[in-house]
Amino acid sequence: MEFSQLKRLVESFGKLRVAVVGDIILDKYVFGKVERISPEAPVPILEVEREEYRAGGAANVALNLKAIGVGEVALLGRIGADSEGERLKQILSEKGIASYLIETEEVPTTLKTRLIGRAQQLLRVDRESKKLLEEGESKRIIALLEEFKPNAVILSDYAKGVVNPTLVEGLRKLNIPVFVDPRPKNTLLYKGFTCVTPNLKEFEEMKTLLGIKENNFEGDTQKLKEKLNLQRLVVTLSERGIALVEPSGVKYFPATAKEVYDVTGAGDTVVATLCAGVSAGGDWESACKLANITAGIVVGKLGTAVPTLEEIFSHLKQGL
Ligand SMILES: Nc1ncnc2c1ncn2[C@@H]1O[C@H](COP(=O)(O)OP(=O)(O)OP(=O)(O)O)[C@@H](O)[C@H]1O
Ligand SMILES: [Mg+2]
Repeated sequence: MEFSQLKRLVESFGKLRVAVVGDIILDKYVFGKVERISPEAPVPILEVEREEYRAGGAANVALNLKAIGVGEVALLGRIGADSEGERLKQILSEKGIASYLIETEEVPTTLKTRLIGRAQQLLRVDRESKKLLEEGESKRIIALLEEFKPNAVILSDYAKGVVNPTLVEGLRKLNIPVFVDPRPKNTLLYKGFTCVTPNLKEFEEMKTLLGIKENNFEGDTQKLKEKLNLQRLVVTLSERGIALVEPSGVKYFPATAKEVYDVTGAGDTVVATLCAGVSAGGDWESACKLANITAGIVVGKLGTAVPTLEEIFSHLKQGL
C-alpha cells in the first residue's frame, strides 16, 4: 500500500512550481589517454580524446527537479558573460528549465574542470570568484521570484556569493517554504527557513558555529533545529541513509542503493526530492523515503547524474 502511495505522490509532482536559487557551476570533464611524461616537468601528458560539460551546483538541483517530474522549474542565480555561461543556458533550455540568470562582466562563470586519464582524475582546475551579489542583484532575484510564484524555493548554497543577507531577508518576506542545502559558514542566514539538509560533516561544523558542544546526535540535532527555528532538520548520512529530526525525536531511514559508483550530486538529489515530496502534500517521512530512493539511483551512476521517473517507479514496484 505504501508503494502505491509514494507512486501517487511522485505522479502529483507535475502540478508543482519550484524555484532554485543559488550558486551555479559548470562542470567540465576532459577525458584522454596518458602515455608519456612531459619533458618540461615531471607530470603526465593528457592527450585529449573527448570533452563533456554538465550543469552543476544549483543548476544540478534544477535538473533533478525536472527529472523527477516537477512541472515548472526555474533557476535563479549568477553567471558570467562568457562562453561557459552560454553553455549553461543552452543545457538548461534543452531540459526545459526556465532560467532567470544575472549575467555579469564582474565575475566569470564558475568552472570546475576535471582532467581524467586511465579512468582516474589527474587534476581539478577551478576558476571562480566568490564576490557577493550586489544589493540590486539580490533584489532583482527576489522580484523575479515574486513573478514566478513558486510553491517552494530551494536555496542551493555553495558559498560562492549568491546566498547573502539581502537575499535571505527578501526571501523571508515572500513567505514561501524554503529548503536549504547548506554551507556551514552561512549557517546563521538560514534562520526561520523550512528545512536544512546538511551532510554529517556539515552538521558537525554547523554545531560548532552555533556553540553546541555536547556530543549526542539526538540532543544536538534538536538543539540545532531549535536555534535555527526550522520546521525540520534532515541530516544525510551517506551509506547510512537519512536522519529526519522531528519535534518528537529523530527518525532514521536506511539508504537504498544496490551498487555505489559515484556519490557526487547525491545531496542535490536529496534536497530536490524532499522539497517536491513535501510541497506536493506528502508527509516528511514519505519525502525522506523517496529521497533515499532517488539518491540511491544517482549514486549507482557515474558523474553528476539524475534519476529517471522510470527508475523511480521500477524501484517502488520492487518494494522499498
Ligand atoms: N555509499 C552510499 N550508499 C548508499 N547510499 C548513499 C551512499 N552515499 C550516499 N547515499 C545516498 O545519498 C544521500 C546523500 O549522501 P551524503 O550524505 O553523502 O550527501 P552529500 O555529502 O551532501 O552529497 P554530495 O556529494 O552530493 O554533496 C544519502 O542520504 C543516501 O541516500
Ligand atoms: Mg552536499
